Amino acid sequence: MSTFVITMYVYFFFNLLSEITDTFVPTCPSIPLGERVDCFPESGASEEKCQERGCCWSPRDESNVPWCFFPTNHGYTVESQETSDAYVMKAKLTRMESPSLFGGHIKELALDAEMQTNNRLRFKIYDPNKNRFEVPHEYVSSLNNNPSSPINNTLQITQKPFGLIVRRKENQNVVFDTRMAPLVFEDQYLQLSAKLPSHNIYGLGEHVHRQYRHDTNWKTWPIFTRDAFPNGVKTAHPAPAVTYRTIGGVLDFYIFFGDTPEQVVYEFLELIGRPVIPAYWSLGFQLSRWNYGNLSTVKETVERNRAVDLPYDIQYTDIDYMEDKKDFTYDKVNFAELPQFADYLHEKGQRYILILDPAIATSKRVGNAPYEPYDRGTAKNAWVTESDGKTPLVGEVWPGETVFPDYTNPNCIAWWVDEYERFYKEVKHDALWIVSQF
Ligand SMILES: *[C@@H]1O[C@H](CO)[C@@H](O)[C@H](O)[C@H]1NC(C)=O
Ligand SMILES: *[C@@H]1O[C@H](CO)[C@@H](O)[C@H](O)[C@H]1NC(C)=O
Repeated sequence: MSTFVITMYVYFFFNLLSEITDTFVPTCPSIPLGERVDCFPESGASEEKCQERGCCWSPRDESNVPWCFFPTNHGYTVESQETSDAYVMKAKLTRMESPSLFGGHIKELALDAEMQTNNRLRFKIYDPNKNRFEVPHEYVSSLNNNPSSPINNTLQITQKPFGLIVRRKENQNVVFDTRMAPLVFEDQYLQLSAKLPSHNIYGLGEHVHRQYRHDTNWKTWPIFTRDAFPNGVKTAHPAPAVTYRTIGGVLDFYIFFGDTPEQVVYEFLELIGRPVIPAYWSLGFQLSRWNYGNLSTVKETVERNRAVDLPYDIQYTDIDYMEDKKDFTYDKVNFAELPQFADYLHEKGQRYILILDPAIATSKRVGNAPYEPYDRGTAKNAWVTESDGKTPLVGEVWPGETVFPDYTNPNCIAWWVDEYERFYKEVKHDALWIVSQF
């Protein structure tokens, strides 16, 4: 009883402070701590800020348990559902009235779900009224769809609030259940949580972790680019469960089913294609450093290692082989014999890799000669531009002022291939190491 009174008191007090919440009361049932989904993932949560978001506030002593967590009356409801095809489910979702986390919430959403093969379910949640960025699926273009099991054996949609329940097969255990927390879909904040059937969680993105099996004690990892600010993260909960958060795009999930980890990997590769098998020699010892200074020093290094029978397969040259660190050039004084260097290594069964940095200098070459790779790229509009779509974006990298190849532009790809072929004819080598695109 006293809890109720305090809650009401806080509510009325808060009512004076904010109009957003004057009609919204979060429904905060008692849920297992491990199933709480953080409604304040950034720092600085307080009771007041939590209530502004229409979330539940309940401080705990246990470390990592979110104090501000989602109520059950946030999220979306199913407005209508279409099941004309046995392998496809479509639904229209409407947002329930509730405060938004960061603003720009999207009221209407579409869900498209499809059983693509017996072992592959795809579902996508997006804004049907406005295109948002989607990662181009250049390698997933030819989906070899061959469903033979109706989608309703695998996927069930709950209406109010909207949730997805995924089973491997009819009447089998649930493997992915998003009813645990509301879907959030705002312009710059998307979130989906799912309860999972076990703590055996592996993979899920590029990040550093101490063991293959993930720690589900409230650990948060980036999904992409472990050395940069993440644009998507996931948190593993003790439930066990996982919460995905991202700051843009759409939610596009593929779920692969298999009896063994190998089978699941097989299903994944069926979709994305198989990896290139690396050349056997590329697995050998490799030697690289910046600033050998000249080719004689490189050769002395190679000779020294040969003399002690070090079984190393690959020698590199870093960008000091270039003329003024310009791509597709070499220093005609200090590295004059670079064109023959690969032959020199090949004689003893070794290989040569050269390093390129994609940024392209805007300056002229030695003796005021034209720097043709830059001139040809400019003629092809191969560079990343400013927001006007025309003016090349200028930056500063190793050779000084540079522009940046826009590899999403087919003109740029044609330019790059052409430059690379030209340079390969000049300086024979076995592979490239393309270093950071600053
Ligand atoms: C699944 O859909 C099929 C038609 O595609 C229908 O015959 C069947 O009754 C549905 N099963 C369930 C459990 O809804
Ligand atoms: C190469 O560099 C080394 C170290 O700086 C120097 O001692 C040597 O004279 C240079 N050799 C040539 C041929 O320039």
